[in-house]
Amino acid sequence: MIRTQSVRFIVALFSLLVAFSVQAQKLPNVMVLATGGTIAGTGASSTTTVGYTAATVGVQQLINAVPEVAKVANVTGEQVFQIASESMTNEHWLTLAKRVNTLLAQPNVDGIVITHGTDTLEETAYFLNLVVKSRKPVVLVGAMRPSTALSADGPINLYNAVILAGSPEAVGKGVLVSLNDQIQSSRDVSKTNTSTPDSFRTPELGVLGYMQGNKPYFYRASTRKHTVETEFDISNIQALPQVDIVYGYANMNDVALNAFIAAGAKGIIHAGTGDGSLAAKVKPSLIAARKNGTLIVRASRVGNGILARNGEANDDELDFVVSDTLSPQKARILLMLALTKTSNTKEIQRMFYMY
Ligand code: SIN
Repeated sequence: MIRTQSVRFIVALFSLLVAFSVQAQKLPNVMVLATGGTIAGTGASSTTTVGYTAATVGVQQLINAVPEVAKVANVTGEQVFQIASESMTNEHWLTLAKRVNTLLAQPNVDGIVITHGTDTLEETAYFLNLVVKSRKPVVLVGAMRPSTALSADGPINLYNAVILAGSPEAVGKGVLVSLNDQIQSSRDVSKTNTSTPDSFRTPELGVLGYMQGNKPYFYRASTRKHTVETEFDISNIQALPQVDIVYGYANMNDVALNAFIAAGAKGIIHAGTGDGSLAAKVKPSLIAARKNGTLIVRASRVGNGILARNGEANDDELDFVVSDTLSPQKARILLMLALTKTSNTKEIQRMFYMY
């Protein structure tokens, strides 16, 4: 009698374990790669929302703070860096992109979430959008408030990002950015406010979709090529060409431009006023720089709109490239990658209209 009961108990326990493991297998496998930022930041008190220390909390602590993620994905964490994102460099990007490509090539990884400081989040996202060689979802997430703050936005942002990275709807959409219940295109999104939780916006072009009720809802997609569709391969690249940004303003001079060129810049992004206008004191130095081999891309500091080719300057004659709608900081990324393939301005202009 006792023996029969024990056998029944063991059979029931075994069935329960099988049921649990089948359930676990059904969940997507999502890797969280942590790089630091405010999402991993701590403040002096719960009301400290500015003036805190970024990049102090480790990846496992971040995941443990959101136990709900275990219900939506099998989550594994990896600490790739622990930095505030204003200190992100090209070398960090190459390391991160290579790690992402290695992980996504594994059949047991369905998607990747990258926790990141918000200051340069849009730049890392766009870089990855151009060099990740997989259709699997990659989602960049950050927080505007440190983990210790009242109403910290990190936990809900991380929860949504894990759902998004594990969702079939996000496959083939390119590298995505998700904060504040919104899904944004890495090409078009910008940080637009120094401190509020709704800082990430895509003015005029709009969000791709929303996170609601534990699900992503997509309404549009970028028409620009990304990830597996690009011509960029960083697998054997150890360093990217130096490209710097010269900012336009009233009373501008050519001191910064000439200093960048003297320091070895292979390309310059001219973040001009308006439609990328060239100030009288700067234009001759830009023309001379191009004649001496430096690539010049005209961009705008305005934040929205198409930079008209042959508008504020005769780009055909001067052999300049225009940035299309890319912000100066994203134009810098595309020019660096373009320069790994060619220094032909016509080819580089094609890339600016393609990506
Ligand atoms: C950072 O970019 O690392 C600091 C700011 C932030 O994450 O919001």
